[in-house]
Amino acid sequence: MSLWNTEDRFGLVTRVLHWVMALGVIGMLGFGTYIANMTVNMSNFHLYAWHKSIGLTLLLLALVRIVWHLGSRVPKSLPAPKWQEALARVVHFGLFLLLLAVPLTGWIASAATGIDVVFWGVTLPSIAPASEAWEDAFFAAHGVLTKLLLAAIVLHIAGAVKRRDGTLRRMVRGQA
Ligand code: HEM
Ligand code: HEM
Repeated sequence: MSLWNTEDRFGLVTRVLHWVMALGVIGMLGFGTYIANMTVNMSNFHLYAWHKSIGLTLLLLALVRIVWHLGSRVPKSLPAPKWQEALARVVHFGLFLLLLAVPLTGWIASAATGIDVVFWGVTLPSIAPASEAWEDAFFAAHGVLTKLLLAAIVLHIAGAVKRRDGTLRRMVRGQA
């Protein structure tokens, strides 16, 4: 069982990162929507801290994944019509961008509230001025980008499931 990608298979590192992040990101889309709509009180305030720590962990994983993606070869896609290959490339690129932009905007907006952003117990240096204008703009961006991320994921899953050629098997077991 190889850790590395080869010309025709996904290695263990890519597959584990893919599925851990897929679970994490889909869960966080639901969790974020929940906290944005809850009536905040003393007993649920800690959920913000959980959302921030999990979100920042996903940001770290996204960085690891992008470095891994750039540093290891990407298996050749299985034969498909040109438009499907092009669409898959665009969607994958969009997913990578959103996996950075979504947590970054959440982090900037949270820092702009003036409240410390704490990562699993460690207080991070502030990355934005305490400003209501920044807070509003970046929370709005965080909200819109999460909708785009959801749309990209739906398109991505539809594309992966629709193909019956081993594309999905390759991301699950490595080999088509
Ligand atoms: C992949 C990572 C993340 C995902 C998928 C995600 C997803 C979401 C979603 C769907 C919402 C609800 C948006 C709305 O309906 O307006 C939300 C809200 C929120 N997010 Fe994130 N988030 C992520 C990372 C982060 C990070 C890293 C932080 C801060 C360090 C953060 C801070 C917040 C806060 C404070 C809210 C509540 C905003 C409000 O009450 O209106 N998020 N998130
Ligand atoms: C049930 C959900 C999912 C399924 C069935 C699925 C399936 C797949 C498959 C089959 C591939 C390989 C495509 C190819 O060989 O061309 C792939 C790649 C990819 N997936 Fe997913 N995926 C899912 C969820 C997600 C989620 C939630 C994200 C984003 C957070 C994501 C991000 C990516 C990215 C960026 C790639 C590009 C390949 C790489 O990592 O280098 N996937 N996915």
